[in-house]
Amino acid sequence: MKITLSVIKADIGSLVGHSIVHPTSIDIAKKELAKSRDIEDFYVTHCGDDLELIIVHRKGINNKVIHKLAWQTFMKAAEKAKKMKLYAAGQDLLVKTFSGNIKGQGPGVAEMEFNERPSDPIIVFMADKTEAGSWNFPLYKIFADPFNTSGLVIDPKLHSGFKFEVLDVLKNKKVLLSCPEEVYDLLALIGAPSRYILKNVYTKKGEIAATSSIEKLSKLAGRYVGKDDPVCIVRAQSGFPAVGEVLEPFAFPFMVAGWMRGSHHGPFIPVAEKNAKCTRFDGPPRVMALGFQISNGKLIGPNDLFDDPGFDKTRQEANVMADYIRKHGPFEPHRLPSDEMEYTTLPEVLKKLKNRFKKI
Ligand code: F6R
Ligand code: MG
Ligand code: MG
Repeated sequence: MKITLSVIKADIGSLVGHSIVHPTSIDIAKKELAKSRDIEDFYVTHCGDDLELIIVHRKGINNKVIHKLAWQTFMKAAEKAKKMKLYAAGQDLLVKTFSGNIKGQGPGVAEMEFNERPSDPIIVFMADKTEAGSWNFPLYKIFADPFNTSGLVIDPKLHSGFKFEVLDVLKNKKVLLSCPEEVYDLLALIGAPSRYILKNVYTKKGEIAATSSIEKLSKLAGRYVGKDDPVCIVRAQSGFPAVGEVLEPFAFPFMVAGWMRGSHHGPFIPVAEKNAKCTRFDGPPRVMALGFQISNGKLIGPNDLFDDPGFDKTRQEANVMADYIRKHGPFEPHRLPSDEMEYTTLPEVLKKLKNRFKKI
């Protein structure tokens, strides 16, 4: 029987400023999910100020019951967060009443349905202080770059490549590209992660291999609320890239958009679960990776995969990069390009200069 893995997240309020989720919010979420008879298993954690619900069930993706459960869990946690006067309590819950599908209502969602394998390793990536397109780079490396994933060359099960579904969030369109044949077309798109977002990766036979949350909070709210702080699920081993191949792209702290006020580029730091707290300049942007074996619908784990000295050098390099780019202060390329600043609070500041501009 098929199982569904749903990772649903929201910023419902934070301790201090936009740093971490309060332990009380985690406890509330655990209690709410434990009450449900509609799910097989769950794990609750946080990445920075985002409350993360990892849920296994058998109801398929986009299921109303599961989305409602997540929504009510966030609402309960937000209610208490408001009472405690935690910062920005209820931030990502953009609507008052649940519409039947949590998509478009503020929270981020990544879900996949598949037949549980005889042994089934999966990795859940969770990020804070960055945008949905930040998975473009690692997903490309994992599923299309033979210098990252040696299985693409060596393993006959991976050798034919993968298919990539890319969304154009400006035009609300999507395209499916097949790699390695169309690798340059793929890169032409996903190299611009603020517009083109890699949503799904499939095997050539059409089986789901990876999926990411694509919610753009600024587009949903029409203004800057917080960054998307996306999540991503990747299947590993036995016909999919090995766990180590899935983690390998994160050994390079590539630049992502987000960080302070969602308005700055910064290095993406891989961190252990205990270090998923945003501090310096409200960041830097960070990513954590929890590995689970799925076993008859239960989550065995997690294994906190970036809690490894093997990533220490990456973290050092990221800190050097953070120092370097911070020195630009409010200048690009630290600050995001103007079109992306339209969704921040900057236009409000510029309004007062409007009438002072004279024709040249
Ligand atoms: C980034 C983020 C923070 C806030 C910043 C200002 O996603 O949430 O960097 O933008 O702390 O927050 P406010 O406007 O609430 O004072
Ligand atoms: Mg926040
Ligand atoms: Mg956040």
